[in-house]
Amino acid sequence: MSSMNISAVVCFFLVFLGFLSFSELVQAKVARIFNISDYGAIAGGRVDNSQALLDAWADACKWKGMPGFGAQVLIPEGYFLVNDVKFKGPCNSPINFRNRGVILAAQGVSTADHWLNFQYIDQLMIDGRGVFDGQGLSVWHKINPSQLPIALSLDFVSNSKIQHMKMINGKTTHLSLFSCNNVKLRRIIITAPETSPNTDGIKIAESEYIQLSDSSIGSGDDCVALLTGSKNINISGIFCGPGHGISIGSMGSSSNFDQVSQVSVKDCRFTNTSNGVRIKTWATMNPGLVSDVTFQGITMDNVDNPIIIDQNYCPENDCPKGNSHVKISDVKYRNITGSSRSQFAVNLQCSGTDPCRVELIDIDLTYDDGNGDKVLSSCSNVQGSASGVQVPKSCF
Ligand SMILES: *[C@@H]1O[C@H](CO)[C@@H](O)[C@H](O)[C@H]1NC(C)=O
Ligand SMILES: *[C@@H]1O[C@H](CO)[C@@H](O)[C@H](O)[C@H]1NC(C)=O
Ligand SMILES: *[C@@H]1O[C@H](CO)[C@@H](O)[C@H](O)[C@H]1NC(C)=O
Ligand SMILES: *[C@@H]1O[C@H](CO)[C@@H](O)[C@H](O)[C@H]1NC(C)=O
Repeated sequence: MSSMNISAVVCFFLVFLGFLSFSELVQAKVARIFNISDYGAIAGGRVDNSQALLDAWADACKWKGMPGFGAQVLIPEGYFLVNDVKFKGPCNSPINFRNRGVILAAQGVSTADHWLNFQYIDQLMIDGRGVFDGQGLSVWHKINPSQLPIALSLDFVSNSKIQHMKMINGKTTHLSLFSCNNVKLRRIIITAPETSPNTDGIKIAESEYIQLSDSSIGSGDDCVALLTGSKNINISGIFCGPGHGISIGSMGSSSNFDQVSQVSVKDCRFTNTSNGVRIKTWATMNPGLVSDVTFQGITMDNVDNPIIIDQNYCPENDCPKGNSHVKISDVKYRNITGSSRSQFAVNLQCSGTDPCRVELIDIDLTYDDGNGDKVLSSCSNVQGSASGVQVPKSCF
């Protein structure tokens, strides 16, 4: 073959592969479809469809398409009851889990840690505009949340997308990422009542290169929690509330070196939440680091603690009492506006052994208790700098 021909072939291939970027791959209907109805699934919400779903997954995961083409597991319209299941990879081709219906968890307790658990998969796409209903109402306030399954969890998943889906009433955490790499999450809606216990929206741990955007999370607990091992995480366009805001931590609970770094939280709105942007660490001897974090373009709408660092985190009584040994450095708050429900709109309580290093730029928060009391900042053990508008007046 002449070099001319080779480059033409290579060029054709690159264009071809370009067309098959993941979203197009699925929309282009080139994927082979594994419809759970063809595996005996029955809609109506009464029959357990776990086996049908697992069988469809197994065939889709085994399917060897042409390079770049993917397999699709399809949940059609209708209510499908599904018990705790694990979807295991690796698969032979990119795989799309398309939920067009409502997948219902079983009511009551179960022994599994997860309801729907995707493991060891490269190029997974979850989409379809369907609903994942965790049926939390059947267990909240009756069963200890630590005994309840995470609704949807991705473990060791890479180069993947989760988009266009809705999760409601998880028994505990709705969506969890553990040991994931390069995952984009967008257009996700998560809702549960404000009073539901321990129902975090999205929890991320030991994961890198994660983008979360254009989503709405109001599930009564943390909208997003970034736990140890979260690195290079970009969050933008999140509507958060009701709940506990976006948190880094809690850190310092284990003797391993807890670390969260390279985090950007941008263009988000918090409504009626107990916190806005929060960093929390236990007051233990366990060392750790939170570094290179930017909170930017954030609107607070009736938020109890808009800007908060709490290095004496103690959700219940009986916590370790000492100084946290988690270092917090290079944290920027920029362009943060709106209304605080507490007088101390900026509240930075850092460790006596390791002061925080923090920068505040253009902070404009209001507080109205009807008595004309001024909005205030409170800081301890902070080495900070402030520039631009500072309402409340900064501590530095
Ligand atoms: C999946 O199966 C259901 C039930 O047979 C059917 O209504 C639906 O059209 C199928 N969807 C596709 C894309 O084949
Ligand atoms: C996050 O944003 C930064 C700055 O825009 C960029 O350099 C980085 O690659 C982004 N990371 C991800 C995972 O999107
Ligand atoms: C926030 O709380 C206020 C006052 O309680 C209420 O009127 C408003 O509807 C709430 N907003 C949202 C988005 O829940
Ligand atoms: C500040 O953030 C808001 C969103 O909260 C955004 O609309 C505005 O453009 C930002 N202003 C600047 C100067 O970046």
